[in-house]
Amino acid sequence: MYPQQQTQKLQSLTSKLLEKVKNQHFQNQDLEDLREVLRFHEYRYYILNEPLIADYEYDILFKELEKIEAANPSLITAASPTQRVAKGLTKDFPTVAHLVPMLSLENSYNAEDLIDWDRKAKELTGLETIEYCIEPKFDGAGISLIYENDLFVRGATRGDGVEGDDITTNIKQIRSVPLSAKFSSYGIQQIEIRGEVMLTKNNFKKYNDMLAEQNLPPLANPRNAAAGSLRIKDPKEVSRRNLEAFLYHVSYYINIEGWPMTDGSTSNALLTHSGCLQMLWDLGFRSPQKEKKVVKGIQAVIDHCHEFEKQRDDLPYEVDGLVIKVNDIALQDKMGMTTHHPRWAIAFKFKARQATTKLRAVEFQVGRTGAITPVAKLDPVAIGGVTVSSISVHNEEYIKEKDLKIGDTVIIERAGDVIPQIVKSLAELRDGKEKNIHFPKHCPICKTPLAKEEEEAVWRCLNIKCPAQVVERIIHFTSKDAMDIRSFGDANVRKFYDMGFLQDIPDIYKLPFDKIGALEGFGEKSMTNLKTAIEASKKQPLHRLIYALGIRFVGETTAKVLSNAVDHLLDFKNKSLEDLQSLEDIGPKVAGSIVKFFSITENLNMLEELERLGLNFQSNKSSSTNGGNLSGQTFLFTGTLMELKRSDAEAMVEKNGGKLLSGVSSKLNYLIVGEDAGSKLEKAKKITSIKILSEKEFLQLINA
Ligand code: IVH
Repeated sequence: MYPQQQTQKLQSLTSKLLEKVKNQHFQNQDLEDLREVLRFHEYRYYILNEPLIADYEYDILFKELEKIEAANPSLITAASPTQRVAKGLTKDFPTVAHLVPMLSLENSYNAEDLIDWDRKAKELTGLETIEYCIEPKFDGAGISLIYENDLFVRGATRGDGVEGDDITTNIKQIRSVPLSAKFSSYGIQQIEIRGEVMLTKNNFKKYNDMLAEQNLPPLANPRNAAAGSLRIKDPKEVSRRNLEAFLYHVSYYINIEGWPMTDGSTSNALLTHSGCLQMLWDLGFRSPQKEKKVVKGIQAVIDHCHEFEKQRDDLPYEVDGLVIKVNDIALQDKMGMTTHHPRWAIAFKFKARQATTKLRAVEFQVGRTGAITPVAKLDPVAIGGVTVSSISVHNEEYIKEKDLKIGDTVIIERAGDVIPQIVKSLAELRDGKEKNIHFPKHCPICKTPLAKEEEEAVWRCLNIKCPAQVVERIIHFTSKDAMDIRSFGDANVRKFYDMGFLQDIPDIYKLPFDKIGALEGFGEKSMTNLKTAIEASKKQPLHRLIYALGIRFVGETTAKVLSNAVDHLLDFKNKSLEDLQSLEDIGPKVAGSIVKFFSITENLNMLEELERLGLNFQSNKSSSTNGGNLSGQTFLFTGTLMELKRSDAEAMVEKNGGKLLSGVSSKLNYLIVGEDAGSKLEKAKKITSIKILSEKEFLQLINA
């Protein structure tokens, strides 16, 4: 889309404009340049995933454009980057007719199906070998976009295929959809293109994490999340979800009158499907230009399908198969379509990650904070390589919303590495014997009446001595990211609890090894391992102990912030809400929970006992946030370091107040490069704000 020369031109224009904004020399005649530069950087960021400027620099330019347009509304254009920004709520979505019906695809599941389809294609076209274009089958929500005179004018959902919802405002929130595209350079006046709105696995996970933080149940898969997002009435919320759009099909176009092609009608790009993908890519759309493959004959198609399926989990987004299309558009027209699907395309579906099974019972489990989680017990069923027999159904509202009953047939799904979820129950298969699920009024373990806080969906057992909570608390305390007493294992915690050896956390450090040694399955070696692991845990840094205590809302990051805020763990007894809220990333909810924890006498008694037993309560004020000469700076290592061990180098960063990032982005300040550095280095070189250091330079920085 932007040849190198133009990229360089736009990059230097960017610097000039930034300079002008800084020196307040910006003039209205620079406006179109500014818009062009912003569009260019959106393309680098959202389509290529290779930004050339820092986020804050983009923001400076964007704000300048907003400021000028606000002062001179007559200068606003429809394709100005500011016009994505949502204002207020949309009303109901009006129904609109598609220019061409949005058909489905025929499915194939194996080589035989494909060979059969190829045979029919050859019969229909009279050819001996057909050229096919293969591309991913994106597992998102179908959309149609219309551009007229190079401007985006309408976006719609698939709906029933004939009519869909007009979601133009929401589509404008998707940064990879250009608001204007030079279709006119292909002789096109009006065009309808089709594609799929998607949420990357990463953004999906982030979204579900956010729901979990609010005690809301997660969404089953990125597809549901994308489809739901398109129908949100608040475009600002749509914008927050970071949707992406893959465009893969030109369904209709009309030429500019008198377009001077030899046959009077079309541009060369539009003669093949791969040409269409190329055109879309060149115009700034996220078409599957890089992912597509053009091959001759069905055997090459079959080989590619098998090869691609193996890489399915490595892709940043969900695909449920591949789509194979006859590449020559004239042949496509010759083959035509049924009322249901085109004859020139077929989907090759990957192994299903959905399955149906029976919901047999619901058990209620008590977590370490007393939260009651209903867990559906299912007839075991295999999906995506694992057998699933129980699935969390989160809370009472979720059960109502999904209309679940015991005895129901349910569809379950495992999307990639996502924990399995119930997608829906099949009410039409009920025979009347199904039973409603009754939420208990008392804790299933200790029988204490359950309580629910206002605005919370979760019922809790408030008895902190509840055996289920105690066991879960001890399991959390010993877990890998907490005190890391891994040789313990969940099963031993339960066993020792049942035998009376382990009634609370301090008992871990007072285990009667003489009695344990006499138990079946405890040999000399496992006893020594356990003793050593328990002893070693006493020296764990304070932030691990804080995390291990399982204080509500205190995760690993908060625990690090907290451990840097005190010299000794018990200093928290004297910290007020205000003291805590003044710390980085600690809001009223977290602060309240910490103050509450340190005001409960039983907790303080337990902590004093742990200190007597020899656990480290002293902070070395090392990790992350305040202080240190790297304070506020972000770091990432790549390649093999020669002098330092990677983990030691990372620890040095944290010790000096720096923060580690997991990937290259404009948020990164330093990339430290070892031997054989690869793609991270390449990516970082393109972001001018990142400083690239050798190992030696890194050590100099640390010692400075
Ligand atoms: S072509 C007439 N290509 O899958 C053209 N569809 O199960 C038909 N889909 O309705 C569509 N990725 O929403 C096509 N690369 C791709 C696709 C794709 C996903 C969706 C599309 C379609 C559905 C059929």
